[in-house]
Amino acid sequence: MCGIVGAIARRNVSKILIEGLSRLEYRGYDSSGIAINNEQGVFSHRAVGKVQALKDKFAAEPLDGTMGIAHTRWATHGKPTENNAHPHSSGDDLALVHNGIIENHETLRAQLKAQGYVFKSETDTEVIVHLIHNELKTQPDLLKAVQATLAQLEGAFAIAVVNHADKERFVAARKGSPLVVGVGIEENFVASDQLALLHVTDQFIFLEEGDVVEVTRDEVVIYDQQGEPQARPVSVFNHNVDATDKGEFRHYMMKEIYEQPKVINACLEGRISENKVLTSCFGADSDFLKEVENVHIVACGTSYHAGLVAKYWIEDLAGVPCAVEVASEYRYRNVAVPKNTLFLTLSQSGETADTLAALRKAKEQGYLTTLAICNVPSSTLVRESALTLLTNAGAEIGVASTKAFTTQLTALLITSVAIAVEKGLSAEKESALVQAMRSLPAYVNAALLQDEHIQKVSDRFANKQHALFLGRGAMYPIALEGALKLKEISYIHAEAYPAGELKHGPLALVDENMPIITMVPHNDMLDKLKSNMQEVAARGGELYVFADRSTNLHNEDNIIFTEVPKVEEILEPIVHTIPLQLLSYHVAVVKGTDVDQPRNLAKSVTVE
Ligand code: AGP
Repeated sequence: MCGIVGAIARRNVSKILIEGLSRLEYRGYDSSGIAINNEQGVFSHRAVGKVQALKDKFAAEPLDGTMGIAHTRWATHGKPTENNAHPHSSGDDLALVHNGIIENHETLRAQLKAQGYVFKSETDTEVIVHLIHNELKTQPDLLKAVQATLAQLEGAFAIAVVNHADKERFVAARKGSPLVVGVGIEENFVASDQLALLHVTDQFIFLEEGDVVEVTRDEVVIYDQQGEPQARPVSVFNHNVDATDKGEFRHYMMKEIYEQPKVINACLEGRISENKVLTSCFGADSDFLKEVENVHIVACGTSYHAGLVAKYWIEDLAGVPCAVEVASEYRYRNVAVPKNTLFLTLSQSGETADTLAALRKAKEQGYLTTLAICNVPSSTLVRESALTLLTNAGAEIGVASTKAFTTQLTALLITSVAIAVEKGLSAEKESALVQAMRSLPAYVNAALLQDEHIQKVSDRFANKQHALFLGRGAMYPIALEGALKLKEISYIHAEAYPAGELKHGPLALVDENMPIITMVPHNDMLDKLKSNMQEVAARGGELYVFADRSTNLHNEDNIIFTEVPKVEEILEPIVHTIPLQLLSYHVAVVKGTDVDQPRNLAKSVTVE
């Protein structure tokens, strides 16, 4: 995680860099820093806390110059202190920012110490800047020194480095962590994400793994891992720039919750006709659908929960076996891959390190093909997968994923139906499913109408320390997602269980202090779930029930009822997600936590 920005221009770049950091704050926000390379030397400011702390420091003591680098940190090695904040320097003339993890930093640190280097931080990053400094002693070319240094590093990195002797260029590189080049007129930039540079350019070059780039005011020269110059295409950004604007909302998360009807519509657009799923949405090569005999879904966090829902859909509609696994486990074990297995990754960012590593491993395992369901068209995951289905949710800024999740579910429903059609799903059933999908935006709108009621309910959570979420069937992964949302932004400890598991252990936790949030599906599991609720009520547990009216559930002594619109069963996991998002949001507001940037987390997890 962490975010980096670099700039070289004919104008002062300090404001450009700091604005870039504000836009990258979603990637990490425990400290930040900036280094400016001007006529007098390389000067830095670093501050603990959010970018605002750096801005305050900057206002008191401005730094001006036409070249600089900047960083916002999510701590991996060493606490969030000023000493550990980036940029890191070696001597007075060299400064560097880094995103990623250097796995062999301990060995390198020992070697550098033996050579007399003194370390001022606990970070893995500091070894990089000292190594470059050391290389510059034997050959003074910054580009060559960086290339020689990168050859010694193991792990993931994106870096940018300035050297006082180099007034006309800075050098940047990526391997395992994202980095884009922003192309301007007589000015050029680098950043971890295009969003960081949208105030200065809409032209971008996506660096490949192992690329090193020499950035001057007038040109950008890219060298591949072998040191050969390479031309990479320039693409024009076409995302909605307003994504970085909160509009009328107090938090990005709430804005993004309310965007869901619109973005679910955008996800469906062009993918369904009147009564069919359009397989052209998978690109020209949709033949794989005929051959799929198994599906392996791999993802992390919220995206993993979307995968768990898809297992129910794929096995139910298509009768195709589907396994779902978290990427951090999948990447390190021996996997058995049956013939004709589709490898499907899910990711909002498309930059999650574990998911990317899983994809790279899968490409060696003889899968039928690789499909990425992803929200960022220019991401590494999209570029490295054979097939892509974009979720079209628009930029998601809040760290807690909301619209990315419901659009992933929408894209997964499209995929599940497309596979099922090839396995003999009737035209009539396909048409009914497509009609249901069409109603989704309206259903989600209807679910949002409960906002005010849910806000009142959330007051009851202000003093709670723990919560249990229950679901059955495809609603169990939604319970998992509800628990993750609550933990993530309100810091209340929450667990989710399939309701039938309650009596096998967690029932011991139930007393009058334990809220039990229950997602009630309207299917043949309803009566079983009602029995599970009785088990809780009998122990004095307080039940928060989310269900449609036709379940005959309502407010009772220890039942707090919230109505969810009645929808086709297949859509219930998507529509029931909305009240859970609203609940976690309002509980977090009541508790006064930092909703959009909860402690210890970052939006894009580009480290292992
Ligand atoms: C969800 O609210 C979290 N931000 C997190 O679990 C996230 O879903 C996970 O890190 C995976 O990210 P990705 O979808 O970008 O791969």
